[in-house]
Parts: sequence; C-alpha cells; structure tokens
Amino acid sequence: MTSTSETLTHGLSKFHRLLVDQIRHEFTASQQYIAIAAWFDDRDLPQLARVFYRQSLEERDHAMMIVRFLIDEGVPVAIPGTGEIQNSFDAPRDLVALALRQEREVTEQFHLLARAAREENDYTGEQFLNWFLKEQTEEVAKMSTLLAVVDRSKGNLFDVETFVARDMPDTTGGDPTAPATAGPALTV
Ligand SMILES: [Fe+2]
Ligand SMILES: [Fe+2]
Repeated sequence: MTSTSETLTHGLSKFHRLLVDQIRHEFTASQQYIAIAAWFDDRDLPQLARVFYRQSLEERDHAMMIVRFLIDEGVPVAIPGTGEIQNSFDAPRDLVALALRQEREVTEQFHLLARAAREENDYTGEQFLNWFLKEQTEEVAKMSTLLAVVDRSKGNLFDVETFVARDMPDTTGGDPTAPATAGPALTV
C-alpha cells in the first residue's frame, strides 16, 4: 500500500515535490527551535530563549507560506510530521552551532529548489523562492553573529544575554514582500 503522501506527490513536477518536502523541513526547523528555546529557558537565559521561541514561529510561518502557495497552485498538500529533534546538549555553544548548521542546510535546500524551478521553466516558482533566498541569507548571518558572540563571551552567558537583549529585538510585520501564509501569519 502506498502512503498518502506518495499518492499525493505522484505526477508532480520535481519543483513541486521538493516544495512539498520543504514543508517538513520548515516544521522540523520550527520544532528544533522550540527545543533550543526550552533548553535556554530552563537554564534562566530568557533572552536566548526569546530569540529561539520567536525563530520557531518564523519557521512555522515559512511552512505555512509554502502551504498557501501549493494550495493556490492547485498542488495537493499533505501536512507532514517532523524529522528527529535534538534535545540533549553539552554546552550553550552546541545549540547555537546546531541552529547555524540548520540554517545552512535550509539554504542548500532552497538552492536545490531554485535549480529545479529554473530547469523546469517554472517562472512563478522562481519568483516565489526569491523571498526565501533573501530570508536565508539573513538567518545564516544572524546565527553566525550569535555564534561569534557566544565564542567571544568565553562562557559568560550574561554578556550574551545583554547582546541579545540589545541587538536582537523581535520585529513583527512591516515586510510587504513576504509571501502570504495559509491562515494567520505570526511574524511577518
Ligand atoms: Fe525557514
Ligand atoms: Fe530559518
């Protein structure tokens, strides 16, 4: 017996199949960020926790933007579970390093998507991806900065908390170029 998602993706373009997979990657990122946020929260590091709780909501929005796009394109959508979530860490640096690794992986995934859209002359798809490519550049930059700050703090997490409080505020709205989400957007 074929699974529902296999049945649904049968006959789709490579671009649309990769986009269906990307829903799962975004939800996995969202869930992983909750795990990271909860770890910091549990260790009385509220600013780091805030940044990652917030990042989790952004990833959820990304997943829901893809859901919106696929529905509008008439592509059947199956809402997936997530991949494995890491919950045990040895040191604060490991969590930020994981976040950076995750953002780099997602960037790679969007490069593959962009290549598929171009190969298949899917102009609408290429245009849809532009916002995500820009977003990935920002997210990789944000996590590299945070990792550099953690390294520079030499274990003084209160310095990191001060930096995060001052330089990483939550911003909501104000991006008219963001793709629409299915249902309410939480962060754009
Ligand atoms: Fe994302
Ligand atoms: Fe991200």
